[in-house]
Amino acid sequence: MERLRKSPAWTELEKLAPLVKRHHMRDMFNREPSRAKKYTLDAVGITLDYSKNRVTEDVLSALFDLANQRGLKQKISDMFGGEAINTTEQRAVLHTALRNFSGQPVHLDGEDIMPEVHATLERMKRFTQSIHNKEHTGYTGKAIDTVVSIGIGGSFLGPKIVTESLKPYWRGGLKVHFVANVDGCHIQDVLSQTNPETTLFVMSSKSFSTQETLQNTLSAKDWFLKQGPSQADIAKHFVAVSTNVKAAVEFGMSKDNVFPMGHWVGGRYSLWSAIGLPISLTIGFDHFKALLQGAYEMDEHFKAAPFEKNMPVILAMLGIWYRNFMGAQSHALLPYYHYLRGFPAYVQQLDMESNGKSTTLDGRTVDYGTGPIIWGSEGTNGQHSFYQLIHQSNMPIPVDFMFPLKVPNQNETHHNMLASNCFGQAQALMQGKSFEECLDDLQGSELPEAEKSNLAAHKTMPGNHPSNMLLFEQLDPKTLGALIAMYEHKVLVQGCVWGLNSFDQWGVELGKVLGNDVYDMIEGEMSLDGVDESTAQLIKRFVKTT
Ligand code: F6P
Repeated sequence: MERLRKSPAWTELEKLAPLVKRHHMRDMFNREPSRAKKYTLDAVGITLDYSKNRVTEDVLSALFDLANQRGLKQKISDMFGGEAINTTEQRAVLHTALRNFSGQPVHLDGEDIMPEVHATLERMKRFTQSIHNKEHTGYTGKAIDTVVSIGIGGSFLGPKIVTESLKPYWRGGLKVHFVANVDGCHIQDVLSQTNPETTLFVMSSKSFSTQETLQNTLSAKDWFLKQGPSQADIAKHFVAVSTNVKAAVEFGMSKDNVFPMGHWVGGRYSLWSAIGLPISLTIGFDHFKALLQGAYEMDEHFKAAPFEKNMPVILAMLGIWYRNFMGAQSHALLPYYHYLRGFPAYVQQLDMESNGKSTTLDGRTVDYGTGPIIWGSEGTNGQHSFYQLIHQSNMPIPVDFMFPLKVPNQNETHHNMLASNCFGQAQALMQGKSFEECLDDLQGSELPEAEKSNLAAHKTMPGNHPSNMLLFEQLDPKTLGALIAMYEHKVLVQGCVWGLNSFDQWGVELGKVLGNDVYDMIEGEMSLDGVDESTAQLIKRFVKTT
């Protein structure tokens, strides 16, 4: 593949960046009275206003040229077509098949995988219904009223964040807990709140080899058996989701209680698979299906819309502009909706585990920036904390605001205040406040001129900070599905431009391997010979204390 920095569009963008840096967005809005209208787009219940970005028509056009020159159309078609685009693991990337409502087959190695997808969905539906209509009960015949979902990474964040975001859609009478961390405090804390007679444990692990998940499940099983039930009762209270059905059965799960998933689904893209079982249990299967429907419609938009009207492509290319040409190293997500508060953490794994890499598909080290740091938290809390840095530091930080126009059980005063904060912050970031304006405000004060000038300098807000505004009519399951799929595709587009494999995660492996060795050293089953002095010292101190 041609080197990214040698592509004509990249060279053009390098020329445009210093020109754009000279302009303030305030002037752009003054010059273009219909800028907001021009740069606003609707798709699948989401409105994107990207007018508050430091871009001109020339910049956008060069960005779309860059996407073309990097073979984005082919990449999209390869992903949906089941090509093994995860090259280091020789795997297809087909999470989109899990929400394929087109009625068309999806072929993998010559075989249609849709029957397998439908069969698993059908099992999820039946299982969900059997819990809800109390056909499937606990070992004493009582209805299940608590779900404890055990999994980590993609087997945790997807189900947790979706469930949390859709709280207004929860079925009454069912509580859900998510346990990920191997820190025993968490599982103990959850177990102390649950009744073994009425609790269902869902163990989610694509590989069925993740230390945290295996240990938390063992601890849960141990606790369960100590409460009185027999070994045979485990089948009523423990189910698993995995690609590795054999390992799950060997672990003690009944085969009927293992929900399969395909190896062609990446961990951080897996909430659409049986990994979504806790979602279906909490909000009901019909709502889960609506979530899939929203994602499907976003897939169709992504495949069909020209790049200039394509929401994931626009967001991705704006991100490239800031990361590679305007000096940004991070990107903040700012949901103004309490239930969506976990969304930054979800996109953090999705984006950073996918594009936090510096080796290209053909094995070269990149000479340009790749995946940014993703962070953020819910509005308005962030306003009273880190927004100061976004407004007045010298680090450029592009942000995505998110706001549902309507919320369930809306309290008008609260919602109006929330809206005014969200829109007001986007406005303040864009327009800022000049030194002259600040000085003007101080004209009536008694301060000496030098102090006025000093104070005005401190109060000056440069503005010109870019933001996208994402509005939802309301954040129902369908819109949430579309929103998540939109960020998934943004990641694909950026990975394509940067020439990365967005679907492996070798970076997490070494830590896992060394962690296992350290565990053996702590347990006294491995010698400390050859271990660096600092690590050896830590292990000895720990062993001595415990
Ligand atoms: O942390 C690496 C990772 O492989 C993630 O990509 C994945 O979501 C997580 O571990 C959990 O893996 P599993 O579902 O196989 O337990």
